[in-house]
Amino acid sequence: GNSLTHELLQIHEEACQLYHHILVNTEVGSEALAYLKQRGLTEEQILEQEIGYAPNERNLLKQVLENKGMSQQGLVESGLMIETKTGELFDRFFNRIIFPIRNDQGKPIAFSGRLFDQQVADKRAPKYLNSPETKLFNKRQVLYNFSYARAHARKLNDLFLFEGFMDVLAANRANVLAGVASMGTSLTNEQIQKIAKIVDQVTICYDGDQAGIEATKRSLETFQTQTKLKVNVLRLPEKLDPDDYIKKYGETAFYELATHHKETAMNFWLFYYELDKNLTNELDQLQYIDEVLTELAKLNSVIEREMYLKQLADRFHLSIESLQETLQQKKQALR
Ligand code: UTP
Ligand code: MN
Ligand code: MN
Ligand code: MN
Ligand code: MN
Repeated sequence: GNSLTHELLQIHEEACQLYHHILVNTEVGSEALAYLKQRGLTEEQILEQEIGYAPNERNLLKQVLENKGMSQQGLVESGLMIETKTGELFDRFFNRIIFPIRNDQGKPIAFSGRLFDQQVADKRAPKYLNSPETKLFNKRQVLYNFSYARAHARKLNDLFLFEGFMDVLAANRANVLAGVASMGTSLTNEQIQKIAKIVDQVTICYDGDQAGIEATKRSLETFQTQTKLKVNVLRLPEKLDPDDYIKKYGETAFYELATHHKETAMNFWLFYYELDKNLTNELDQLQYIDEVLTELAKLNSVIEREMYLKQLADRFHLSIESLQETLQQKKQALR
């Protein structure tokens, strides 16, 4: 890369170290440190991930970077400053817990800053504030924790997709090490291409709330365009996210779930299409059967198709033959 790219990487390294130092070694960071520990983060994780704290000041990072000889252009293009109309620069992140976001080589290229719970409740600012797009940070490409999860994912031939930072970190404590987060935005084709280079299989494990269920549906559809990857789903009960689940039921329970309780994408569709229906009503039954057969028609595995056809036939007291005939029509329509 050229010299600006190099400087931007340096700026992020400096910022990462500054925020981390403040969190772990100073009085100013003690409230944030206590918060992280109360959330269940271990000392080891805080050090390994170099989690930090940006104090409630608007000139701290700016001063440090200027003292280190960084250029004004570097400061502006790092995305770590906010520029006023008069051209004055202020630190973007203040009074937030800082999660470094890294590139594939593990170097920090962006940050996400979390507010304390009380300020989240006040709703005056977003819970997590992320760096803007920069020369280093292309949001469509990046997955949180990818550089760390990659080796584990290769070994497992599976990669867990979570929504958030805390989910990745909680899963790690539960020994589910092959986890990344899309950071609350929908999965992009670029991210899928990246994933497809290292595994044949992924597991979507989003939050158990309505938003997480809808996001799972959208991600499954995005994956369907990338036929090479096998996609499974790990659905969580009681609207919990992985971090909440682990807090409530423990690390062992989550590991067990992640190891033995994944479901097929098809099983997710069986669940999903039932959500808005009353299956004692025949109109709803017909619509449900139609929606499920549409998904079944997209399946490549003959065995999997037969498995679900039998389930459907049993459940609605229909013949396999009539379901099979409809399925064939749908398959023809797909060609
Ligand atoms: P969630 O709202 O599920 O937050 O958003 P969370 O991960 O459970 O966070 P905690 O447990 O309250 O700390 C999922 C992810 O969406 C992104 C973040 O990456 C977050 O982890 N997000 C969420 C944002 O970027 N900005 C927001 O304001 C909220
Ligand atoms: Mn470092
Ligand atoms: Mn969520
Ligand atoms: Mn969540
Ligand atoms: Mn959470």
